[in-house]
Amino acid sequence: MSSLNRYWSVVPAAGVGSRMAAAVPKQYLHLHGKTVIEHTLSRLCNHPQMSGVVVSISAGDEHWQQLDLSSHNNIHVATGGVERCHSVLNGLQLLSGFADENDWVMVHDAARPCIHHDDLSHMIDVLKDHPVGGLLGLPMADTMKRSNAAGEVLETVSRENLWRALTPQMFRLGQLQQALQVALADAFLVTDDASAIEYIGLKPRLIAGRGDNIKITRPEDLSLAEMYLAQQEKS
Ligand code: C5P
Repeated sequence: MSSLNRYWSVVPAAGVGSRMAAAVPKQYLHLHGKTVIEHTLSRLCNHPQMSGVVVSISAGDEHWQQLDLSSHNNIHVATGGVERCHSVLNGLQLLSGFADENDWVMVHDAARPCIHHDDLSHMIDVLKDHPVGGLLGLPMADTMKRSNAAGEVLETVSRENLWRALTPQMFRLGQLQQALQVALADAFLVTDDASAIEYIGLKPRLIAGRGDNIKITRPEDLSLAEMYLAQQEKS
């Protein structure tokens, strides 16, 4: 059964990256010889089990067309939306034009260029026969505090069984599409894909991922990602 599985990737890449305070959206910043988005898309495209990639690009984006990857045979372009969840749904809708509803889709942030093939392969191994799907995560290492709006500690939250949600997040195409539609119809703007699957009552599986799969969010993340990419090249 699992040998018949097909795997696709949908990459939301329509954010503006306001926390980077840079002149271009963060996915177009240069890092270790190419742009952030080129690292991300090449890693996904070059994985031996990946059938193809859909990338969601903002309607007013002037940078995408300038990349060689924009004419890649196996990269299809959908239009980005107002929030990440809209960009993902647009990508899934485009994908459903040529993929089967039971195919697996890995949704992966364009802003995570250090995604390693080992993480992708491990995720496929763990989830290929899973009834729901799941996501990469990292168990919390720090002590967790909840504050009020003034920054005063209200409580210390136990970090037992507490994870940071990373991407890729891998679900069946039809089920993820349906889950996102239900969440959006209820005006629930999910910040990751697993939240939509949880919303329809299912339990995604968490899989411990690599710690170098960081999301470029703040200026200091660029040099960290640069270091991780250089390290990965050596090992
Ligand atoms: O802003 P944040 O880092 O949470 O965005 C995660 C990913 O979602 C990024 O790759 C970003 O480009 C994408 N995104 C999108 N459409 C939006 C907002 C964010 O595709 N409207």
